[in-house]
Amino acid sequence: MDLSPEIEKRKTFAIISHPDAGKTTLTEKFLLFGGAINTAGAIKRNKANQNTTSDFMEIEKQRGISVATSVMGFEYRGKRINILDTPGHKDFAEDTYRTLSAVDSVILVVDSVKGVEEQTEKLMQVCRMRNTPVIIFINKMDREGKDAFDLLDEIENKLSISLCPLSWPIGQGYTFKGVYNRYHKELNLFEASKTKVAESIVKVNNLDDEAIAEHLKESDIKQLKNDLELVEGIYGDVDKELYLEGLLAPVFFGSAINNFGVRELLDTFIDIAPSPKSREAEERDVKASDSKFTGFVFKIHANLDPNHRDRIAFLRICSGKFERNTFYYHTRLKKKLKFANPMDFMANEKSLVETAYPGDVVGLYDSGNFKIGDTLTEGEQLQFKGIPSFSPEIFKELENRDPFKTKQLEKGIQQLTEEGVAQLFIQQPGNRKLVGAVGELQFEVISFRLEHEYGAKAAFRMLNYRKSSWVTSTNKNQLTDMERRRASNIAYDKEGNTVFLAENDWVINLAKQDFPEVSFHTTSEFK
Ligand code: G4P
Repeated sequence: MDLSPEIEKRKTFAIISHPDAGKTTLTEKFLLFGGAINTAGAIKRNKANQNTTSDFMEIEKQRGISVATSVMGFEYRGKRINILDTPGHKDFAEDTYRTLSAVDSVILVVDSVKGVEEQTEKLMQVCRMRNTPVIIFINKMDREGKDAFDLLDEIENKLSISLCPLSWPIGQGYTFKGVYNRYHKELNLFEASKTKVAESIVKVNNLDDEAIAEHLKESDIKQLKNDLELVEGIYGDVDKELYLEGLLAPVFFGSAINNFGVRELLDTFIDIAPSPKSREAEERDVKASDSKFTGFVFKIHANLDPNHRDRIAFLRICSGKFERNTFYYHTRLKKKLKFANPMDFMANEKSLVETAYPGDVVGLYDSGNFKIGDTLTEGEQLQFKGIPSFSPEIFKELENRDPFKTKQLEKGIQQLTEEGVAQLFIQQPGNRKLVGAVGELQFEVISFRLEHEYGAKAAFRMLNYRKSSWVTSTNKNQLTDMERRRASNIAYDKEGNTVFLAENDWVINLAKQDFPEVSFHTTSEFK
């Protein structure tokens, strides 16, 4: 069967940003255009800005109920759009990085007032690892922000990517008049409105068109002409090939809350964003158009109902056709599984899915078979690449506070780390369990969930390590020598890979000098 019409139809992407730049607002407007929701405010904010565990758990519970928000599918202009949601809070950055392994492109939202922020840089690094195509939306143009040229310079420099503005702002903040669309030669006039869907668009042939003079002041037109001349000289026209290779990002300006510039962003996205392509597995490249089904798990969502231990594994389909009630091969466990109730996420609702195609994400009820990165096939032994673990920044030793619940603790920590809440390392002597995470909040969530879902009581003892590197060497003796001489810095991850834990850069540099044939990697994706 020729799958290409289904594949071409699909655009699977994530909207990413530093918290508060406007990711949730933009997602919501997209869903409004797609008819997936009727009113603004329908999307649950999953920001967990609150810093207490109970607030966070409250939010997680709400999300558990409306798990559909992890993937939001809708139809727009004959395309099937899948937006993969990413958590806003920086302590859950790793969850976001993993979700990025399952998308074909991203839209990056930048706040025009704040410019490039810490999380923006980290997210772009992940996109660059895979050459993911990026479109940039500069948001909050209704506020007094940075000068547009300065902003573009800042983005190019800090994110190391070439840019090409496809729209250009006229004024900003209080004087914001709208944007000129260089691509369609249109003037989009700004009118602050949180509920309106349509924009006032004036089609023009060139910048001397009388229609422009009807809407803009003489001085604005002059400024726009000057700006556009500069833009033309500096950035030229958009090169779609460079965009698809992840080397050049088209840029749009707008205001998500006012629904301004959103439709042109979405329309251009539909026109240029890639449909599912091939993906790298350890064994071979897997083409989306391959007739045999393959897919991998990139996220596991715990159902937080304590009476119901089921989890949902999110499977990204990479090739072929997925069908309900069909046996598929779990390549890590080397066993066949079939799924009676796979879920589809359309229009912000979950429903039973009979068939799904490359680019789609299906939710599989799981009672503990899956961990992140697991691959399903029709029988082939295959392992998809590209779901790396990142170096945690905080390390704590897990202590058992209730010896009668040792088994529960073991099971709990095993499952939670398989879900990707944090990373587990084992250190000798004594098989001590070290938990590494990006933020403090993750430890609180683990303690809370161990107690409420597994009935175990745990405490965490802060350790001095701040960095970890996965270490490899072609010189086995040197690696063994390092493991022996630096035993207090050595731990093993769940796959048994050797990890070097360090208090600071100095300790790592010293080890590099002493063991020159050992390579240090900051992500686990080093093969
Ligand atoms: P996030 O998901 O990236 O964290 O950001 P989110 O969409 O939640 O937006 C963060 C804040 O920025 C929200 O305000 C939102 O209303 C505001 N915002 C989004 N787009 C625009 C814009 O174009 N212009 C302006 N001026 N503000 C914008 P909040 O006060 O935190 O929340 P709320 O009470 O408005 O929901």
